[in-house]
Amino acid sequence: MPAIDRAVSIADLRALAKRRLPRAIFDFFDGGAEDELTLRANRAAFEGARLLPRVLRDVSKVDPACEILGLPAGRPFVVAPTGGAGIAWPGVDIGIARAAAAAGIPYTLSTNATASIEEVADQVQGRLWFQLYVLRERGFVEKLVTRAEAAGYEALVPTVDLATGGKRERDTRNGFSIPPRLNARLLLDGALHPAWAWRIALHGGLPDFASVRGYRGSRERGLALASSVGRDTDPAFDWDDLARLRERWKKKLVVKGVSRVEDAERLAALGVDGVWVSNHGGRQLDGAVASLEAMAPIARAVGGRMAVLMDGGVRRGVDALKARALGAQAVCVGRPVLYGGGAGGAAGAERALAILATELERAMQLCGVRTMAEVTPDLVAS
Ligand SMILES: Cc1cc2nc3c(=O)[nH]c(=O)nc-3n(C[C@H](O)[C@H](O)[C@H](O)COP(=O)(O)O)c2cc1C
Repeated sequence: MPAIDRAVSIADLRALAKRRLPRAIFDFFDGGAEDELTLRANRAAFEGARLLPRVLRDVSKVDPACEILGLPAGRPFVVAPTGGAGIAWPGVDIGIARAAAAAGIPYTLSTNATASIEEVADQVQGRLWFQLYVLRERGFVEKLVTRAEAAGYEALVPTVDLATGGKRERDTRNGFSIPPRLNARLLLDGALHPAWAWRIALHGGLPDFASVRGYRGSRERGLALASSVGRDTDPAFDWDDLARLRERWKKKLVVKGVSRVEDAERLAALGVDGVWVSNHGGRQLDGAVASLEAMAPIARAVGGRMAVLMDGGVRRGVDALKARALGAQAVCVGRPVLYGGGAGGAAGAERALAILATELERAMQLCGVRTMAEVTPDLVAS
């Protein structure tokens, strides 16, 4: 049986990815900012939330289907945007997006993805959202928005927690750059991971950030050192700019990277369709509150007016139940699909989503809930 199929948990896929990828690439996926306090807090918040299962209910059939952003979804998951996925496995962005489509859940394409806006739209039949980094060159940003519109993306997801890059010390220590360059260290590490090196060689080298080719003439073929990702995002982007973006983009708009209730209130007042509670998986402000903790009061305040999504630390299917009970419409996953994709390409990404799905269904049965509508706040012990 292939190692991917023997993986029974997201942690197993993480361990496999760690073995199969050069250290610098694994660390880029896995790491957080500074002391990784928020990275750990995201997970700890899920671990600390305890359930009060209902018993003696007929749970011979459970159905995890739900609505996400006004449309039906197979289960309460969304694939979060991740830049640079293809450096682990060329073509994996498409593989991840297809896995999401097969699961009936939305896939969010990163501005910094290694597949372009058009490639993904052409090759994937599913719900597609486009994550937007507002770069300093606003003319280029307008082009990205126009391209996402022309390619038929259902939602635009501006990320607002990257006024500057987080201090990711693993990347600095590993000398890892984004888009990656083959330096002596990576070459040496590549020699220790021949299957990875072979895939990269077959691809003709490391993939770049496909949608932002040409940004500022693409000097140095790209945007920034991984240790200083954010150098090109515009720190001046503010509420007035967001209001203009709301005017400009007529379809669904979801704002990613929110932690405060009053910010969520303001988004609702602006007519934004969804708030995505996130601290960027602990990769930006170290010391930011855990997403699950930030989300619950936001959901209480604006859940009746807009979709509330969250990410950060989801590693088990049962986490979706906990987050739903606390008011989220869906949970979004970043690293779980990266671990899968890094360990086994498209098959690994599929495996990651399948593990989360079967865990969720089992947790529904054990909690005595048959549908997502039955996941109510009393399911979590206060
Ligand atoms: C390697 C990596 C790259 C990421 N790239 C982006 C990105 O380009 N845009 C973005 O909005 N968020 C990005 N994120 C953050 C994710 O969208 C998401 O917020 C985070 O991974 C959720 O936490 P989790 O990894 O614990 O699921 C990235 C995360 C990782 C791990």
